[in-house]
Amino acid sequence: MRSGFLKTGMILLLIATILGGCQNIENPVENPSASATPATDTGEDKDSDNLITVGFAQVGHESDWRMAATESAMDTFSEKNGFNLSYVDSDNNPDMQIDAVRGFIEQKVDYIVIDPIVTTGWTPVMEEARDAGIPVFVIDRMIDCDEDLYVAWFGSDFTAEGEAAGAWLDAYLDDKGRGDEDINIAIIAGTEGSSAQIGRSEGFDGYTRMKPNWNKLDERDGEFTRNGGKRVMNEYLEKYKDIDVVVCQNDNEAWGAIEALEDAGISFGKSGIIIISFDAVYDGLSDVLEGKINADFECNPLSAPYVADAIRKIDRGEQIVNKINYIDESCFQYEDNVKSIMRDGRMADMITVTWDILMERAY
Ligand code: AHR
Repeated sequence: MRSGFLKTGMILLLIATILGGCQNIENPVENPSASATPATDTGEDKDSDNLITVGFAQVGHESDWRMAATESAMDTFSEKNGFNLSYVDSDNNPDMQIDAVRGFIEQKVDYIVIDPIVTTGWTPVMEEARDAGIPVFVIDRMIDCDEDLYVAWFGSDFTAEGEAAGAWLDAYLDDKGRGDEDINIAIIAGTEGSSAQIGRSEGFDGYTRMKPNWNKLDERDGEFTRNGGKRVMNEYLEKYKDIDVVVCQNDNEAWGAIEALEDAGISFGKSGIIIISFDAVYDGLSDVLEGKINADFECNPLSAPYVADAIRKIDRGEQIVNKINYIDESCFQYEDNVKSIMRDGRMADMITVTWDILMERAY
């Protein structure tokens, strides 16, 4: 724990930051690739009295993406970089996650970082953190509370990801001469009530509503896990005889769905049911390269370095100007037939996965 003097100074700086700089400017963070995230290694050796204490309430360990995000947070908030990290894996239990934040407040950490499992239920504990003078950062998933209760948020535009998936499917079907065909779509959703699920569903549904020949058969919770994806896919195979597209809201669910389709002897990917996924982790992109997944929309797990950078800025007396910070993300496909799509009002390239792209993947 740092000295009381430093902490008081930090709180004053934070108040100045909130009063002067929090205008809720939506800010795309540039170049989020692993090499372009803020440097985490300060190169300084700090003695343990000078370490910045950070409490991080992580969602859990449900997916490969999550493990990459945890590893990035551990590396970022390391002693070598001047931090002392208290880490809690909340095991996808919202009550446990709120208790973890209360624990950090009791410990009097210097900063709290939350990746909220679900959007709701946060106001009381966020007010407790404010009353204790502890600045809170939110990463990855969004939180539903007064924005003055946190310093800044860094993460993905989940709605844009869902819209991009819809735009890609539209262009892909057109290219295959199937633009006017009736298309039956089954969704394997992520954890219900998480902003990742809400955004991806809203984004894709918004696109579906513009396509009268697209029929959404069902949407069930696969909890962002491989087992959940397999379970839901098996339920769909029992209930629906004609499925054209399966939208899996993360790669782990896609792997579970693929397993269920393989067990049932049903073809998919390049030769059958179209599989759409999100995350684009290494193994997901490897399935895109093989044509098992037709398109994969990236969700970047490397938010922690942006928080560390913001903490250092506060320590130096600089302002954190932007409250909402979106990390740029890419869109990947198996076939080279869709060149670009509209994503969040701008044209975005569809990247056809090659061996070289896979080899460069950082997570
Ligand atoms: O919040 C990000 C989502 O949560 C990722 O898509 C998923 O893999 C994770 O579990």
